Amino acid sequence: MDLSSSVARTVSEAGQSHLLQFWSELTPEEQAAMTRDLEAMNFREINGFFKSAMETSSGSKQEKMDARMEPVPRDVLGSVTRDRDSVRDWEAEGLQCISESKVSVLLLAGGQGTRLGVSYPKGMYDVGLPSHKTLFQIQAERIVKLQRLAEEKHKRKCCIPWYIMTSGRTMDSTKDFFACHNYFGLSKNNVVFFQQGMLPAMDYSGKIILEGKGKISMAPDGNGGLYRALGNQGIVEDMEQRGVEFIHIYCVDNILVKVADPAFVGFCVQKGADCGAKVVEKTNPTEAVGVVSKVDGRYQVVEYSEITLATAEKRSADGRLMFNAGNVANHFFSLSFLRDVVQTFEPQLQHHVAQKKIPYVDAQGRLIKPDKPNGIKMEKFVFDIFQFAKKFVVYEVLREDEFSPLKNADSQDGKDTPTTARHALMSLHHRWVLTAGGHFIDENGTRVPAIPSVSRSAAADRVSDAAHTNLKDGTDLPIKCEISPLVSYGGEGLEALVAGQEFCPTLVIDEKGVHELVKNGV
Ligand code: UTP
Repeated sequence: MDLSSSVARTVSEAGQSHLLQFWSELTPEEQAAMTRDLEAMNFREINGFFKSAMETSSGSKQEKMDARMEPVPRDVLGSVTRDRDSVRDWEAEGLQCISESKVSVLLLAGGQGTRLGVSYPKGMYDVGLPSHKTLFQIQAERIVKLQRLAEEKHKRKCCIPWYIMTSGRTMDSTKDFFACHNYFGLSKNNVVFFQQGMLPAMDYSGKIILEGKGKISMAPDGNGGLYRALGNQGIVEDMEQRGVEFIHIYCVDNILVKVADPAFVGFCVQKGADCGAKVVEKTNPTEAVGVVSKVDGRYQVVEYSEITLATAEKRSADGRLMFNAGNVANHFFSLSFLRDVVQTFEPQLQHHVAQKKIPYVDAQGRLIKPDKPNGIKMEKFVFDIFQFAKKFVVYEVLREDEFSPLKNADSQDGKDTPTTARHALMSLHHRWVLTAGGHFIDENGTRVPAIPSVSRSAAADRVSDAAHTNLKDGTDLPIKCEISPLVSYGGEGLEALVAGQEFCPTLVIDEKGVHELVKNGV
């Protein structure tokens, strides 16, 4: 098959003729697929993205942000620990909005999950809970439960539409998985899938990388690819038609995520915010987490690499780090702000450069897997739009209650693994049982001391450290306890089931009842 002269010309004019170096060796099917891929590519745009991403990245490496940064002011900050009295109000406000079907959730699930290293979407991962629920199922059941709570309180039917962003690589398997599991109890019409864009990986000189003789190396364009995808696929209009006014955006990999968290939504609504970020306290100055801060009067996430150690170590009068609003990619948007971002601001966002080890074919057509970074992927980030918000607010929650991401495989023996995610969830559920008046006993019938025997903050530190360690030592293992989201969304409603009772782990509480797996010989 001959390559059409117009495609060949476009490729050559873009300085990407090397993409065709193996053309004559491809089968007719491979040539047809390659032609489709090349025709779909906007080379002028891609070359432009490369140029500006490289310029921005070399500029940002030199300049430290320190002098231009301010911490989040108290008047835009809500905190579950410091504003305890207001949390109930915010929760009531959020639940009211949910009951009026004004709240939707948007899941960022287009990542490749390279570090976890599985071939299927991360949401389908089972971290090994007693129930073996996947991340998708846990999140779906939290939505189901929240709808029920809002309906019970306000005596009207409501729904929380769930928008799920996937990428080219994960769309089919994600959709099949939901269909296979009957949408985990949600109505199929209220689960909307859409697909983010992909961009080619490039070497440092701007040449697109081939990962096969007839195959371009493509990657999703970052979780900030969201905004372009929302525009291309009419999702904002879909939200409008459904009467959605507020959107909670979150990442697939956080096992503790409070999907559509009514307190967070209610706080943002009461503050009249168009955009909000949920954060967890950064306690260790060298933790490589981005912090939400004001830079030149506008909000943004400042990466650890963008500040000096001296600034990272600065402390406020209360002893906390001054720049401690750790970003966890968990955000609130008003629909009108989201619409403005999609229609007006998105083109102003720059791609970030991620240096990666990208498999490529050499001049002889052999596949090479480099052992050091050899090129870049270009990504936009979901939080890049904070700068455009007119009223931006920040909501601080406890890490051990709300944030435990799944990033790495257990074999990597480190942070953010299936083990740490599982332990974080079981530890939270253990604390829920204790708070509701239940107790745990060991196999000899002796009561297991409750964790909060030390001071609250020390306990919090311990739990959060534990959540980030691969707990191999049996003494540190959390009590095995899992509570179905269909029974409790955030620890509520457990008193009638557990108060004054003693349980021998593994304890599982689900819609069928309270089960002690060991006692029952399971
Ligand atoms: P990460 O940046 O941690 O990427 O994504 P990842 O794909 O999960 O894992 P690695 O880096 O390949 O190991 C944070 C969140 O953003 C989503 C992910 O699905 C996850 O929920 N994401 C990331 C997207 O939706 N699209 C992207 O292009 C990248």
